[in-house]
Amino acid sequence: MKVTVVGVGNVGATCAQMVAGKNIVQEVVLLDIKPGMPEGKSLDLWEAAPINLYDTRLTGSTNDYSKTKDSEVVVITSGLPRKPGMSRDDLISVNAGIVKGVTENIVKYSPKAKLIIVSNPLDVMTYVASLASKFPDNQVMGMAGVLDTARYCSFIAEELGVSPRDVQALLLGGHGDSMVPLLRYTTVAGIPVTDLIDSEKLNAIIERTKKGGGELVNLMGTSAWYAPGSAAAQMVEAIVMDQKRVFPVCAKLNGEYGMKGIFLGVPVILGKNGVEKVIEVKLNKEEKAMLDTSADAVEKVMAVFDGMNLM
Ligand code: NAI
Ligand code: 2OP
Repeated sequence: MKVTVVGVGNVGATCAQMVAGKNIVQEVVLLDIKPGMPEGKSLDLWEAAPINLYDTRLTGSTNDYSKTKDSEVVVITSGLPRKPGMSRDDLISVNAGIVKGVTENIVKYSPKAKLIIVSNPLDVMTYVASLASKFPDNQVMGMAGVLDTARYCSFIAEELGVSPRDVQALLLGGHGDSMVPLLRYTTVAGIPVTDLIDSEKLNAIIERTKKGGGELVNLMGTSAWYAPGSAAAQMVEAIVMDQKRVFPVCAKLNGEYGMKGIFLGVPVILGKNGVEKVIEVKLNKEEKAMLDTSADAVEKVMAVFDGMNLM
């Protein structure tokens, strides 16, 4: 089985490393437009195999899509990351063209691939990949919720001094400052988090989660890669191992949550067919209003893309 990662900068290279380290596929292809970089990174990762004990072959490709032929999963991370002061939405003018072009090339060689989009603005780049690929909805998804939920869980674990493995949570909505962490669906080893942390601290954790990407951009001058690369690799694993994991994933809604045609973060079952089912959880009035606000923000950026007349 083959997995391709397009864009082998910070997030793509980390994702390739994590996928190889899981030892779940025969080959990972790294593709980028920077001559020598994908070949160099794939060689470096292959040289790490005897130390990290995996058999996965790594192949580098400078923009030669024939090497990606018959990929089961393709992770698209190509595009600009944001700099301090920028929002994810500011990236649309450059990244829309990149994601469109990359997707068109990928589908020529891997018509059955499941596409995991990472490039920002995430929800809208997933929409772009859907339009450019013309794939069925189950084959096109975006990575954001796994990352945003991990950030949320890590902050809760830190506050309580417990293992992050024992924190379970659900976060919906777009990958932006209006994302919706759901307190009602957040537990620590089954205990409602509201029994363990007071509301003032929980609100601070929620605010930190919403701005989690920006916190790292301000620290590093560019956006994060370890948690994003790991999150994308976890989605790859769920698909290639047909795990039927329940993850928050950016997927196309066809009436779920009362919305149609929008790409938004919702819980899904992820297996060999990609998005196998969108799970509709019951939201109270306040939660639904927050999801609607997040959807409005995504729709505005989708309209900006439509106005670019790229399709
Ligand atoms: P980076 O600059 O380190 O890497 C991007 C790579 O894409 C570069 O190596 C570049 O040469 C390559 N690239 C550009 N155009 C290409 C093309 N047409 N074909 C193939 N490769 C191309 O950036 P980084 O930090 O890896 O971020 C990548 C993207 O992921 C950004 O848009 C960033 O905002 C987004 N991101 C999304 C997250 C999410 O949760 N969805 C989390 C973190 C980053
Ligand atoms: C992040 O959340 C910038 O989307 C990127 O780290």
